[in-house]
Amino acid sequence: MIVAIDGPAGSGKGTISKKLAEYFNLSYLDTGILYRAVALQMLTEGINEKDCRSAKKVARQVSITSIDHSGIRTRAVSDLASKIATISSVRKELLTRQRRFAQNPDPDKDGAILDGRDIGTVVCPNADFKLFIMAELEIRAKRRWKELLQSDPTVIYSEVLEEMRSRDERDTNRKDAPLVVTSDAMVIDTSNKSIDVSFNEAKNWILSRRF
Ligand code: DC
Repeated sequence: MIVAIDGPAGSGKGTISKKLAEYFNLSYLDTGILYRAVALQMLTEGINEKDCRSAKKVARQVSITSIDHSGIRTRAVSDLASKIATISSVRKELLTRQRRFAQNPDPDKDGAILDGRDIGTVVCPNADFKLFIMAELEIRAKRRWKELLQSDPTVIYSEVLEEMRSRDERDTNRKDAPLVVTSDAMVIDTSNKSIDVSFNEAKNWILSRRF
């Protein structure tokens, strides 16, 4: 069984995906970490964000199992990840890895669940279940701001809001694999719901269509 989860940053899709992975015994991949790994490597090596050839080379070297998760959640990495995600050659490199993951879950698992921006449209268009997790921009920005405050008490909410707004705009308006809601996806708005309520909605929807 393959489950595709899409949605903007801060919607809660990661947490919901992890809980669904546990409940349905699925291998889980947060596909955003691939784009983040490319961005972090480019920042470390001082590669210009417009240097598409170098970005593609970096993407070619990314391996899901060896991504170092430390340092990939910073604001600079988030911003650059969204920028290099507009480069088609980068997307193409990362696409093969994501599809391989979806098609080869761990042998002790019953399938795979992937979350990102283009899972239901490009990575796994034939997924058994597609969910689109969303929330109002201000609410998502507030969630991210609170998260960032834990490591940096000087973070300003309005800046986080603006960063999220431009990332949303880039992710939804790019030519290649933009973030869109497909007609076959179950949409869950987490704006005014707890994670447990949203998770139960997703879980029950899958259960109701599973057999
Ligand atoms: O999910 P995230 O916030 O970690 O993703 C970081 C960026 O990576 C996001 O702004 C756009 C890009 N991305 C993408 O284009 N396609 C995906 N499937 C996942 C992430």
